[in-house]
Amino acid sequence: MAQGRSQSLETEPPGGVEDGTSIALFSTVDNKVTVPGGAAVRSSSLPSLGEKQSLVSLASEHASAGRSSEALRIYQALLETDPNDCSVLMGLGELCLMLNDSATASKFLHRVLKLDPTHQRASEALAAIRTNGENQKEKLLKIPQAIASSTTQPRVIRPIPLWDRDASFRKILRQIPYTLVDPVRCYMLYQFALQASRIEGDTVEVGVYRGGTARLLAMVLQPSGRRVHLFDTFEGMPSTDPAKDEHRQGDFSDTSLEAVKKNLEGLENVLFHPGFFPDTAPPIATMNFSLVHVDVDIYSSVLNCCEFFYGRMVQGGMMVFDDYGFETCPGAKQGVDEFFRETRERPCYLPSGQCVVVKI
Ligand SMILES: C[S@@+](CC[C@H](N)C(=O)[O-])C[C@H]1O[C@@H](n2cnc3c(N)ncnc32)[C@H](O)[C@@H]1O
Repeated sequence: MAQGRSQSLETEPPGGVEDGTSIALFSTVDNKVTVPGGAAVRSSSLPSLGEKQSLVSLASEHASAGRSSEALRIYQALLETDPNDCSVLMGLGELCLMLNDSATASKFLHRVLKLDPTHQRASEALAAIRTNGENQKEKLLKIPQAIASSTTQPRVIRPIPLWDRDASFRKILRQIPYTLVDPVRCYMLYQFALQASRIEGDTVEVGVYRGGTARLLAMVLQPSGRRVHLFDTFEGMPSTDPAKDEHRQGDFSDTSLEAVKKNLEGLENVLFHPGFFPDTAPPIATMNFSLVHVDVDIYSSVLNCCEFFYGRMVQGGMMVFDDYGFETCPGAKQGVDEFFRETRERPCYLPSGQCVVVKI
């Protein structure tokens, strides 16, 4: 039996002991999860009500502390013992909301309401999703999506939640609740920024919105004295092409330059370039870049970024495209694929949904 930390899962994999947070939740022969106090769930036997309640509250604690993968593993285990448990479905719905995955959250919440039409928390959460829905892009995290569609999914959950264990990252993440970018993508970006701090060149973000990932970048790069240039209209999406893009002009207009400056208070290494990119690009035309974060969602903006930055990237510099793998941003993928068709560099798609190009 692995020695779990207090308040964390201990699991017993088939044929050996491993780190309890990085292995399959159950073995197929002896499926078992234990929690502090000795409560155990086996897939072949139903947990008692008390055991179930302690597992649900443990999962909820994990979720509140940002340990989403650990919460997910417990919920998934419980769902396998009872696919119609409202407290588990509700917990999953709330977890998906924390991960900015409102589409999957809605599925869980609708299941709760089907089982219990008077469930107030589920109705309120659904109403909130509908209200927020207009301006939120649905950037789905694949893991909860997978278990939402079925309760008989493979039992190994990947990836290993390293981001949950990285205290420096979590400290930053707690400061940017207003970002549209989920924790997994933020962690990728965090690592690219750490890499950028070791090579020459400025960092740029095009697509700032309220300044979430901008703050992340600036915090990581400040100690190495690297500048972070921020480009956005700060008034919402410019005109889009309905044949290529899902977004429309004016999306993300619930922000402002003043509000973003406030969100980035205390960081001396940021420079603001408000307006339509690339009209706003001339002040950085003679610079070279180690990291460019492109989070603009639409075809023309992505292509403009590729055209402007590619020739200005230092060797080993990284261009990170946030929206590449998302159905709501088809133009973003199209722009990247078209631009890099003829270059030596190949866009590398990441399971997070992002795509990275490393300059050779
Ligand atoms: C998805 S949001 C960025 C999210 C942000 N990175 C975060 O952490 O939440 C996309 C932003 O791209 C901006 N944008 C798209 N095309 C642009 C362009 N050509 N010039 C300036 N801003 C643009 C929009 O105004 C919008 O604020």
